[in-house]
Amino acid sequence: MSTAASPAISVPSTQLDLGKIRADFPILSERAYGKPLVYLDNAASSQKPKAVIDALVRYYSTSNANVHRGVHFLSQKASQEFDEVRLKLRDYIHAASEREIVFVRGATEGINLVASSWGRANLHPGDEVLVSGMEHHSNIVPWQLVCAERGATVRHIPILDNGELDLDAYHQLLGPKVRLVAVVHTSNSLGTVNPVKTMIDSAHAKNIPVLVDGAQTLAHGTVDVSELDCDFLVFSGHKMLGPTGIGVLYGKEALLEAMPPYQGGGEMIHSVSFDGTTFNELPYKFEAGTPNIADVIALGSALDYWASLDRTVVAEWEEQLLAYATASIATIPGVRIIGTAKRKSGVLSFIVEGLNALDIGMFLDTQGIAVRTGHHCTEPVMDRFGIPGTVRASFMFYNTAEEVDRFVEALRKAIHLLRKG
Ligand SMILES: Cc1ncc(COP(=O)(O)O)c(C=O)c1O
Repeated sequence: MSTAASPAISVPSTQLDLGKIRADFPILSERAYGKPLVYLDNAASSQKPKAVIDALVRYYSTSNANVHRGVHFLSQKASQEFDEVRLKLRDYIHAASEREIVFVRGATEGINLVASSWGRANLHPGDEVLVSGMEHHSNIVPWQLVCAERGATVRHIPILDNGELDLDAYHQLLGPKVRLVAVVHTSNSLGTVNPVKTMIDSAHAKNIPVLVDGAQTLAHGTVDVSELDCDFLVFSGHKMLGPTGIGVLYGKEALLEAMPPYQGGGEMIHSVSFDGTTFNELPYKFEAGTPNIADVIALGSALDYWASLDRTVVAEWEEQLLAYATASIATIPGVRIIGTAKRKSGVLSFIVEGLNALDIGMFLDTQGIAVRTGHHCTEPVMDRFGIPGTVRASFMFYNTAEEVDRFVEALRKAIHLLRKG
């Protein structure tokens, strides 16, 4: 029974069998400092169901071999398991072809690939790349690097006081010099879900391609690239129940086809001689070297796990958890929520007047509660709100209302003790 919430805030409930779901995630029964772990740092990395952990062990125990190279049994087995995941991912995001699914280390590498390959080929002096003011550093710095090299400029769409993007400013910024829009779908520090479909339509009306950073969106729902019509999409496996070290770059086939390779090495070539090299077909042209086979296969298990869930019920539960946590902390004097957009997902960022976010995070940690503090790799967002950082609690469907209560109770305690000094 809830003790932390004020009587006016009703405790949410779900049809999800949270006991059963939580039993699928071994780490959720761990303790921190002798207290039951409350993991509210899901935006940094999600926890993994046993099926994903087992897939890694199973791969190394029964299928381990290099892919696409050997004629032997094991290599063919590994290749088949590996290739099947690409097809699953194609269907998962509704890509037109598996040729459009490039395996990368994560969202960061996906963006670097596009900045480096597409950027070098398409950016010229005076051109602009338009990002938003709420990008993760990984969707700012690669563009700064390539723009500096090419004599181009990175411009940004401003953020309104409630944490939504200023769409009027966006339309004004979408001028004749813009060569690419690179925008985050769901902000990792504000929780804002941006209206990317509308933004893409406006950019396409001016023949400007759009890269969508789906790192936080894929953690909570699916993205349909055919419906969205984005030109590139990047995401990371570890934020969506999969392992670290694996992610996806989706790109429209015609764009990927026209782009030069990103890295050179094995697998990405068709033939090599000292007179010159020809490159492999898509997607291998962008996958130099031995791929991250085990993690690709385990990502496939994460997709199977998602498929076993009722996504509508999951989305409703996550929405309720966020609303419950938001309403509960809003009653605490001195708490200011950073990011109050109408459409939010997964993330509750806040500051407490007169207190340091790190001190709060450290106190919560002593209570077994894992949150993140700081700028969350979005320093421009912190500058926009004139703060050094926030405390961020981020939720996943396996979190419970009781965990939210524990978090709120511990936060009240932290504020009380820290204020006493
Ligand atoms: C919105 C967003 N984009 C990109 C990234 C980078 O992801 P990764 O570090 O997995 O490459 C993150 C990670 O937190 C993120 O939240």
